[in-house]
Amino acid sequence: MSEKKHILDYDTVALDDENRALVIIDQTQLPYHTEILHLTSQKQIWEAIYKLQVRGAPAIGVAAGYGVYLAAREIQAESYDDFCRQFKEASAYLNSSRPTAVNLSWALKRMEKVVDDSRGRSADEILALLKAEACAIQQEDIDTCRRIGEYGLSLVKPGDGLLTHCNAGQLATSKYGTATAPMYLGHERGYNFHVFCDETRPLLQGARLTAYELKDSGLNVTLICDNMSASVMKKGWVNAVFVGCDRVAANGDTANKIGTSVVATVANYYHVPFYICAPTSTIDMNTPTGEQINIEQRPAEEVTELWYQKRMAPEGVDVYNPAFDVTDAGLITGIVTEYGIARPPYTESLKAIMEKKAKEQV
Ligand code: MRU
Repeated sequence: MSEKKHILDYDTVALDDENRALVIIDQTQLPYHTEILHLTSQKQIWEAIYKLQVRGAPAIGVAAGYGVYLAAREIQAESYDDFCRQFKEASAYLNSSRPTAVNLSWALKRMEKVVDDSRGRSADEILALLKAEACAIQQEDIDTCRRIGEYGLSLVKPGDGLLTHCNAGQLATSKYGTATAPMYLGHERGYNFHVFCDETRPLLQGARLTAYELKDSGLNVTLICDNMSASVMKKGWVNAVFVGCDRVAANGDTANKIGTSVVATVANYYHVPFYICAPTSTIDMNTPTGEQINIEQRPAEEVTELWYQKRMAPEGVDVYNPAFDVTDAGLITGIVTEYGIARPPYTESLKAIMEKKAKEQV
């Protein structure tokens, strides 16, 4: 009998090039069913992102990179210009699946640049370059998360209580996660953290995904409802909060899963340091402040009936269901990137981080 695979032994996102498929774990079925999906059409890939079968900003970027490469494989073009046009159409289609996480458009722009720089190349050469770029996006995500983990770990000490919201774990990335990277690295080094994990209404990414992956990895994790963060902070059980992000504006305002700004406000009140773990792919220097971030609105049913045996709200009631909120930069103690930790004032420190990245990439 084969032993049950650990959830983190599966790739969150993978390419099956031979079968022209994007391979993902269907995250809407976790933790009880580990269903692996092989997505071959652009519509299936678009829907998987929209329905959160693959979710989390970095994982969406990786999925989009492979997705648009697969689209390119299907293009029948009469000329380079025709190929470019069809490729950009496919890219725009995938980009329309979710609006808030900038990683989606960031990854697609990288893929488009490969095509833009390829005039004069054969179709086979362009496809090979597109595949290499998509693989690089995934490999960089792994390296980035590990580096974020090292910087994050420098902010805490053995035995600390940590709190996280939503899932910025391995299931949201290619490995380690962002907010969970310091937790995993600390666990490997015997830090013995105690992690409080918000369940994260309405889609329960904290309960279904973060609690699952941390527990399955042997970490000490306690699940709490979203309205309990003040209780555990007041008791002094939390030494630091680590969360992920979907878009960081140039001034440090940060969009992340709905409820993050509540945690940040509570942490501020109880003087608990609040850290955003942000790959530079999630920092959007073209968005000046959180005011300009497009917040995804999702169906009312996610609030009124999903997960319940029967509907829990009166028929016809108005529902407001934004998927993300923006945490004001003033509530953020530090933004942990793969190029170091940005501190207030973020307008300057994020600029310095992006300059450091640009220099290292030369
Ligand atoms: O709606 P989701 O599940 O895609 O939201 C995910 C989050 O808010 C994560 O915290 C964020 O994408 C960072 S993942 C490293």
